[in-house]
Amino acid sequence: MPWHLAATFRDDEVMFEIVSARFIAPDIKMFGVRAARVAEHWSPGQFVIVRVNAIGERIPLTVADVDRTTGVITLIVQAVGKTTSLLNQLDSGDDLADVAGPFGAPSDIEDYGTVVVVGGGVGTAIAFPTARAMAEAGNRVIVIVGGRSGDLVILATELEAFAAEVVITTDDGSRGRRGLVTDALAEVIDREQVDRVVAIGPIPMMKAVADLTRPDSIPTVVSLNPIMVDGTGMCGGCRVLVDGSTKFACMDGPEFDAHQVDFDVLAIRNRAYRPFETEQLRRFGACS
Ligand code: FAD
Ligand code: FES
Ligand code: MG
Repeated sequence: MPWHLAATFRDDEVMFEIVSARFIAPDIKMFGVRAARVAEHWSPGQFVIVRVNAIGERIPLTVADVDRTTGVITLIVQAVGKTTSLLNQLDSGDDLADVAGPFGAPSDIEDYGTVVVVGGGVGTAIAFPTARAMAEAGNRVIVIVGGRSGDLVILATELEAFAAEVVITTDDGSRGRRGLVTDALAEVIDREQVDRVVAIGPIPMMKAVADLTRPDSIPTVVSLNPIMVDGTGMCGGCRVLVDGSTKFACMDGPEFDAHQVDFDVLAIRNRAYRPFETEQLRRFGACS
């Protein structure tokens, strides 16, 4: 059996209890969820597919951390539409209908030397476990965390626990330095040898990082965020174009060589259901 299916479980016999829930930024909530089998089999870079309730849609969420002793996984969720808004209304003591996984290929973790991890918005939460695993593997890890404003910068303190350096950038200069994560990355590349870059965030950010590191051929990895439904390679929803070939992000990724990714196709496909999503959110807002 392929490894990604061998390690895949649905904890049918248990409810997925939320054991902790707190906002860490406006509209960004950190949850502790009891999901023992996911906690047992998870590696950095992998995600779960969650259903908030029995009639709800499936959404992918990266596992930010696990506690194997308690069987609790950490999810960090930014409310951007109906399902994530519904999820972020839940609190400690509530249950999730489904937490399936872990899905996706684990991050490639080796001792590369100096690794720069770039996180934009909630992408920082997705990058967090990979950054920590890179540090544990012996890399010198420099983290660049970006947000539109200071209140949207997350996990800076947690990253400082293992990173050699944490650089914060905000669009409005309200925290750290004013500017884009790519400005800070360009300075690090000018200053010292960079052996690998991991960039996770909005599509334009990941594309800009890829464009920046391509001339120097710095190996660069991005975690792609196409629409996913089943997470097991069956629905085809997560098709992405990499080096001219179709790949399934849920199985072949979500991490790919940034220099090979067609970001324009990814952006177009992610916009495909925008009118329906906007209408769903409008109706949800009218009801809640
Ligand atoms: P909608 O209004 O339905 O959609 C808003 C936008 O979200 C869409 O335009 C589309 O770009 C995207 N989206 C919608 N449905 C899906 C779907 N089924 N799968 C993927 N994207 C979708 N977000 C977090 O806040 N934290 C995470 O840790 C996290 N990890 C992710 C890991 C992976 C591998 C992927 C692919 C996405 C991840 N996301 C994460 C994004 C998250 O899945 C979407 O924000 C969420 O599905 C939006 O659902 P919605 O109904 O609230 O918004
Ligand atoms: Fe269905 Fe990847 S999510 S094939
Ligand atoms: Mg939705």
